[in-house]
Parts: sequence; C-alpha cells; structure tokens
Amino acid sequence: CAEKPLAGLKVLVTAGATSEPIDPVRFISNRSSGKMGVAAARKAQSLGAEVTLVAGSVSVNLDGLNVVKVQTALEMLEAVKKEIESTDILVMAAAVADFRIAEYSDTKIKKTDENEMTIRLVKNPDILKEIAPLKKAGQVFAGFAAESDNLAANARKKLNEKNLDMIAANDISRSDIGFGTDENELTVFFRDREAVNTGKVPKEKAAETILLLAKEVHGKKNG
Ligand code: C5P
Repeated sequence: CAEKPLAGLKVLVTAGATSEPIDPVRFISNRSSGKMGVAAARKAQSLGAEVTLVAGSVSVNLDGLNVVKVQTALEMLEAVKKEIESTDILVMAAAVADFRIAEYSDTKIKKTDENEMTIRLVKNPDILKEIAPLKKAGQVFAGFAAESDNLAANARKKLNEKNLDMIAANDISRSDIGFGTDENELTVFFRDREAVNTGKVPKEKAAETILLLAKEVHGKKNG
C-alpha cells in the first residue's frame, strides 16, 4: 500500500560507532552520532517494515526500536551474521572501527614516568566483506561511504569491493552535513542505474529516499 511501502519486509540497520576497549575504563571510538542510521531504522518502521537495529554507541534515543546493543566491531559482526539470514534489506550505516586494541588489559593501565606509550592495534574485519558470501539473490545490501575527496570514484570502488547493491556517499569535508548534524546530502550509487542525489535534507528525509530506493531494487530482484 502507498503509506506502508515496506510492509512485509525485514530491514536490518546498523548505526553508531563501535568502541574498542583498551582497558576497563578506556576505549577508542569515532565521532559517529548514529543519527543517520537511527533515522533509517525509525523511517523503515514507519514505512511498515519489521526492523532490527544493531546499535553501537549512539547519541540519540532508541525508544520504540527493536535494538541489539553492541560495543565492538567483532560484536557487531556477530550480531549482523545472526540476523542476516532473515533480512530483506540491510542498511549498514554504522561507523565501524577499522582497528581494535591488540592486547586488552583486564586491569586499568597505570601511569608511568615515560613520556610516551604505545598501543598496538590490529585490523578489524570489514563486516560487509565478511557477510558478502552469505548474501542471497533476493537480498538488498546498502552501505554508506564518508568521503573527503573523489566521492564518486571511491564510493563506486566500495560498491564493488563490498558486493553492495547501493551505496550512499556523503562529503565529509563539508561541516554543514554529516557527522553529528541533523542534515545530510547523499549521492546514492547503484550497480546498474544512474546515481541519485538527495539534496541537502533532514536525515529523516535522506533515510526515506534511501529506503524507497532500496525497496525499488528489492522489487526488481524479486519481481
Ligand atoms: O570502507 P569504508 O569504511 O569507507 O566503508 C564504509 C561502509 O562499510 C559502511 O557501510 C560501513 O558500515 C561498512 N564497514 C563495515 N565494516 C568495517 C568498516 C566499514 O561493514 N570494518
């Protein structure tokens, strides 16, 4: 129906930052607020989908959403793997830490007299790349790309490398959109159709555009 275009579909959204613990009181993370992903989860729900949100650290309210809370990239990977089988549309909006601490300390690391200290990092898995082999023919996977330069080329590269159906790219060199703000301007790239630009709009509106585009791709794949 027109008002519930996602009725009958299961949508899995990831949002927010993963945080990677150093010791019981310290961690490394990133500036993602989770606003874009949470807006996508809420919009998907209001468009009629059954929604699961895998949330890292977010600075927005999650009331009324079906949430799986995670901390680290490895936990997010496990949560996504668990949900992916029953998912029709995946919206991977989380800002996943590319690295984690190599040796977590169970006890608080003590101050020393040294002027320097070194923390060794090891690479986290790329969640989209890990789940790409699990993707079924009818499923739609949408990713995000935060780019500071060569937006189209970099986004298209990620679309291919991560085996996505679509990728929503934004220009993070602009301070009026993206990280922490309420508005976004996204260019959505596809495998076999022209890119779509959302214009500078509230994140709710950008989320709606992405979801309706994902629904179109889903319709094509399952038509
Ligand atoms: O490669 P890059 O981090 O720019 O790609 C961004 C996209 O890949 C986003 O959709 C993000 O959620 C996803 N990603 C991921 N696992 C990572 C890093 C990013 O799934 N370790």
